[in-house]
Amino acid sequence: MKHEAKDFNHLLGKLAGFSEKMLNAHFTLYQGYVKKLNEIEEKLAKTDKSSANYSFGEFSELKRREAVAFNGTFLHELYFEAMNAKKTGKTEASTVLKKAVDESFENWEEMVKNMKAAANSTPGWVLLTFSKIDRKLHTYIMFEHHVGLPAHQEIILVLDCWEHAFMIDYGIGKADYLNAYFNVVDWDVVSKRLDKAMENEKV
Ligand SMILES: [Fe+2]
Repeated sequence: MKHEAKDFNHLLGKLAGFSEKMLNAHFTLYQGYVKKLNEIEEKLAKTDKSSANYSFGEFSELKRREAVAFNGTFLHELYFEAMNAKKTGKTEASTVLKKAVDESFENWEEMVKNMKAAANSTPGWVLLTFSKIDRKLHTYIMFEHHVGLPAHQEIILVLDCWEHAFMIDYGIGKADYLNAYFNVVDWDVVSKRLDKAMENEKV
């Protein structure tokens, strides 16, 4: 299947604290992952599987990098898709999401604090997940696109903390970026993701 990069241009000029320059750079980077994912998948289909080898083999190298491009693509989509470009102001979390946050983190402020602390613990990604094990929300960090994704979690919010996500507008001011980020999260989207996640049983 050929993957197509999604168009997120509707976000340009609509997100307070996110300049068009920074968003455009980020979109280009995301498109690069989609391109690489297609390239890797095409090559994997054609490459001789008998070359597979733990030390080195063309098939093995492609296989080892496949999840980098895959998660580089879909984590970015989860990130951009939960950004609020509506002109109606801040979105409201659903009752279900609020209850899940209270049960998992005590209250909303603690969830935000937890996500920010997680962001300060990684150069990479922060995930807010619904766990199919205890049916609560959790935060996890990923140091690379393909390392650190725990089993049995449905991702309901992704926070991109790689420097490219904030350096252009904030330099090394990660805390200011995090404040800006929480002002533009589309909680409608996150609430819907949680509803869907809760429907799924652990396999
Ligand atoms: Fe990114």
